[in-house]
Amino acid sequence: MADKLTTEAGQPWANNEHSQTAGSRGPVLMQDYDLLEKLAHFDRERIPERVVHAKGAGAKGYFELLNDMSAYTKADLFNGVGKKTPLIMRFSQVAGEKGYPDTVRDVRGFSMKFYTQEGNYDIVGNNTPIFFVNDPLKFPDFIHSQKRDPKTNRRTQNMQWDFWSHSPESLHQVTYLMGDRGLPASFRTMNGYGSHTFKWVNQQGEQFWIKYHFIADQGVKNMTAAAAEQVTLKNLDYLQDDLYDAIETGDSPSWTLYVQIMPYQAGLDYQWDIFDVTKVVAHKDYPLIKVGRITLNENPTNNFTDIEEAAMSPANFVPGVEPSPDKLLQGRLFSYKDTQRYRLGVNFEDLPVNKPIVPVHNYERDGYMKADNQGAAVNYEPNSLNGPQEVPDAAIKSVTVTGDAQAQPYAHHVDYTTQAGDLYRLMSTAEQARLIETIKNALGQVTLPGVKELEIQQFYAADPTYGTRVAKALNLDLETVLSYRE
Ligand code: HEM
Repeated sequence: MADKLTTEAGQPWANNEHSQTAGSRGPVLMQDYDLLEKLAHFDRERIPERVVHAKGAGAKGYFELLNDMSAYTKADLFNGVGKKTPLIMRFSQVAGEKGYPDTVRDVRGFSMKFYTQEGNYDIVGNNTPIFFVNDPLKFPDFIHSQKRDPKTNRRTQNMQWDFWSHSPESLHQVTYLMGDRGLPASFRTMNGYGSHTFKWVNQQGEQFWIKYHFIADQGVKNMTAAAAEQVTLKNLDYLQDDLYDAIETGDSPSWTLYVQIMPYQAGLDYQWDIFDVTKVVAHKDYPLIKVGRITLNENPTNNFTDIEEAAMSPANFVPGVEPSPDKLLQGRLFSYKDTQRYRLGVNFEDLPVNKPIVPVHNYERDGYMKADNQGAAVNYEPNSLNGPQEVPDAAIKSVTVTGDAQAQPYAHHVDYTTQAGDLYRLMSTAEQARLIETIKNALGQVTLPGVKELEIQQFYAADPTYGTRVAKALNLDLETVLSYRE
């Protein structure tokens, strides 16, 4: 039998089709509170979308540990082979708004929240191991250049390439994005990366620098630009629907988690700055070590409460995992929970999807929409009332820091072209051809003077063939391009 219709306050609701009126032609009566409530609730249905990564889809699943990592980290979820940790995962695109087509060229978000026995651990990564900028001060400008023009409200190639051509650190990621991986065929067929270097600390206090790699067990598959255009005409939510339908039919996608592990000092001395997120660490120097597997086997029960209200944050660590000094990461540690207080409210961690599976005991109280306010428990410290006690074992491993405090760029091995060139040289001939064609179609639309020249100079520095081919594709004279100065 169907449930009884009720108001939000639980009273039986007599009529959900006809407002109370004076006579059948109206007017409507002020006393019809069911109508007022229904309209008032509807008027407030929308919350701010994520300021970036607004368009996305997610699912529930679990992480299974395949190799014990206790030699490297004391984190409970990485200790004890076979241990299963429930999780929620969300895939997204960066720049488009909530209703934007899925199949446009963009980096894809790859984020997850592990509900561990030591509280929530989030990895908020992308489907690329690197990023466009390496200083958090540049992130808002970068995003503005990817979103809409303030006057025309259009997304323009002018803005995107203007920013990139004046931000040489973006070259590696731009090459990645313009390559085949900029258009994944499915969320299920893309790899994920933690991108930054993180720190693992074991029970003995030994420290290691690590990088996360989630390799799709489905294999990596991408779309051609032509196929993506066709798909976009038919279905704006193609990637979302593909994920949902696969899980619904029992075809659970999975990713094998690997880490690159660098001994503490060797990491600091590595040929590249491992804290500069525009760089990768070569697999031949630090091979991938298998950790476990993520499986997604359950679709959201309710998309708003399971996915839209999910608040992933790079600041959600558990003991045994710590941030590295990576400047971009350090900026992110602030930004996520800050935006979530605005997007979801100050008590967003009370929402079911964000609530840890372990009990919360602390001295924080009250605020809008507080649901679990820790009852009668003491709300100040120090106290003589047996209130919650600190956990010294959870302290971060102390590190020595030195250097002059000032606004300054990365100084250690700044080279933004070699690895971009490596990526270009790693591509097959066919992929290189598609890369040049994609750049031609995008950069070719730029009308701002000098932008093409500055960008091609960087392609050329990465690999002379790369720069020469782009110049040729755009019908520009290479010598003139290379001699251009702002
Ligand atoms: C979402 C800020 C760099 C991956 C977000 C959100 C903010 C943000 C404010 C919205 C969060 C929410 O409303 O819940 C920043 C800042 C960055 C930065 C300030 C640099 C300083 C990065 C990098 C990555 C990344 C380097 C990947 C390695 C993501 C993902 C999401 C996201 C995947 C969506 C999370 C979800 O699915 O809910 N970012 N971001 N971001 N960011 Fe970043």
